[in-house]
Amino acid sequence: MNIMGLHVFGHDTGAALITDGRLFAIGEERLNRVKHSGFLPGLSVRYLLEASGLSDINDIDLIVGVTRYDKEGINKTVEMIRGELGYQGTIHTISHHDAHAASAFFASPFDEAVVMVMDGLGSKVIDNETGAKIPFPYRHLGIKEQKNHEEVQSFYRAKGNELVSIRKDYTQPGYMNGLGLVYMGTSVFLNLGDFGSGKVMGLAPYGGNPGKSMDREFFEITEGLALTRSEKNFVRHIDHYQKLFFPHVPVRDKQKLPDDVYTEIAYSVQKATEEGLTQIANHLYRISPCKNLCYAGGVGLNSVANKKILDNTPFEKIFIQPAACDSGIALGCALYGAYIIAKEEFGKYSFKNAYLGKAYKEEEIVVALKGIPNISFTREREIVKKCAKLLAEGKILGWFQGGSEIGPRALGHRSILCDARKPEMKDILNAKVKHREAFRPFAPSVLLELAPQYFDLNCESPYMLLVAEVRRDKRSIVPAITHVDGTARVQTVTKEDNGKFYDLIQEFYKITGVPLVLNTSFNIAGEPIVETPEDALKCFMSTEMDYLIIEDFFIDAKGPKKLVTGPVVDENRLKAVDIRGGRGLTRWFSSLKKK
Ligand SMILES: [Fe+2]
Repeated sequence: MNIMGLHVFGHDTGAALITDGRLFAIGEERLNRVKHSGFLPGLSVRYLLEASGLSDINDIDLIVGVTRYDKEGINKTVEMIRGELGYQGTIHTISHHDAHAASAFFASPFDEAVVMVMDGLGSKVIDNETGAKIPFPYRHLGIKEQKNHEEVQSFYRAKGNELVSIRKDYTQPGYMNGLGLVYMGTSVFLNLGDFGSGKVMGLAPYGGNPGKSMDREFFEITEGLALTRSEKNFVRHIDHYQKLFFPHVPVRDKQKLPDDVYTEIAYSVQKATEEGLTQIANHLYRISPCKNLCYAGGVGLNSVANKKILDNTPFEKIFIQPAACDSGIALGCALYGAYIIAKEEFGKYSFKNAYLGKAYKEEEIVVALKGIPNISFTREREIVKKCAKLLAEGKILGWFQGGSEIGPRALGHRSILCDARKPEMKDILNAKVKHREAFRPFAPSVLLELAPQYFDLNCESPYMLLVAEVRRDKRSIVPAITHVDGTARVQTVTKEDNGKFYDLIQEFYKITGVPLVLNTSFNIAGEPIVETPEDALKCFMSTEMDYLIIEDFFIDAKGPKKLVTGPVVDENRLKAVDIRGGRGLTRWFSSLKKK
């Protein structure tokens, strides 16, 4: 059976496909090169059909998407899939949080778990699962009022093919922001954009300085639900955030970070978020005890808080799939379709690793290589040994292998790699390649079996979603990945899941005695991670990266590069509403279909 998940509306749209025992997924941003793209995921559909050998969208037996009704009660998601993608088969739609929950549990290795969903906002109450009735407390409301109630936190109990909602909370008039929106509002207040929460998290450890506290009661928590007394959504109405929390502080303009004010705000909101999440997760455990926790929603990318949840709750294991944010919605829809609707045998499509993109054939790579002037390339038999040696010599490598990673983290298939031993490597990488804010940390990829020697971490962190302390005696050995507070966002790497990437780090370890490398995403600030060999070559030729490796091809520039000297797009100006998909894009997709 062929089952597709589609994330059609919102930001970070994309598609996932389950077919013939295989699972593929891709975000539209990777293909149309618009970061956090909200375009109808037409390119993603075409990409997945090609990857799986299907020729037409009507070869799909079932499409699952997220429900979105308009004022007339028409399900716009169904309308878009039928009208714009020309699909005639079965469509089922579910709520945004149900999709997050399915992505969290059905991708996990657990037979049984509780599931926590925490994000900015999910579906409106009216958009609850198609066919399901609106919960009693909201039935007396008209459509306009129902829109004031949006999913803010959801808990589920999951076992085998079952995913049962045990509690779902919506925003309420007068309480329009949950924990996720408070964090996003902070990002907007700090002029880091709607998608800058990761930057706030990276900035926070510079704060906490005595006498500078900007602590506030960012939200109240009652019975495991965090809400803030507020009339408007903070992300769209930053004046409400400002008035409530920091009436005497102007919205940040271009003040340098870290500083004494905005950095302390980042610190305070991070601390409150960690404490809030720990309380909420403990409440979930009390009402539904289980040793396994699955967790999704954009807040799940807060890798610092994730470790606090693991350390400060009775949960023994935590699973967060790498696309915990909305880039995993399509994946959740596809998994929901497989296990709950089609009732596929449980565990059949369990998630082996993050590499859900398609691998490029050698012929495709050669065509791309021949299309670029000013490069030389060779096919190497001992590419791993050669690259480990170059890394140890301080070179910066573009590393492109197999299918791309789902989600916002590069995990060794679309990565830029270098040696973490040099203290100046962070600045070199920013100046020559990435052009990111200097305060943001870079992350390590470490051999799993040696991770405890370097980090306070006794479990796997395959998707770079746990931040752990770097052991004190190791901090001076790997300064380029050690953040100001002595922590690092760790990716643990195994031979089974990571193949050649594992071999590379192991070879580097043999040369240097250090079992880790610095791993950052293969892109320049402001652009999506590269997907195709062409994208990788373009990025390579516009930065001072030393060498590029695509599969076994070793690529060097032999002529001048056309360097990009700053962020491709100013991410701090990105607004979720600006990149949303919808009707205005239908003509764009029609022209695509004719090709
Ligand atoms: Fe979400």
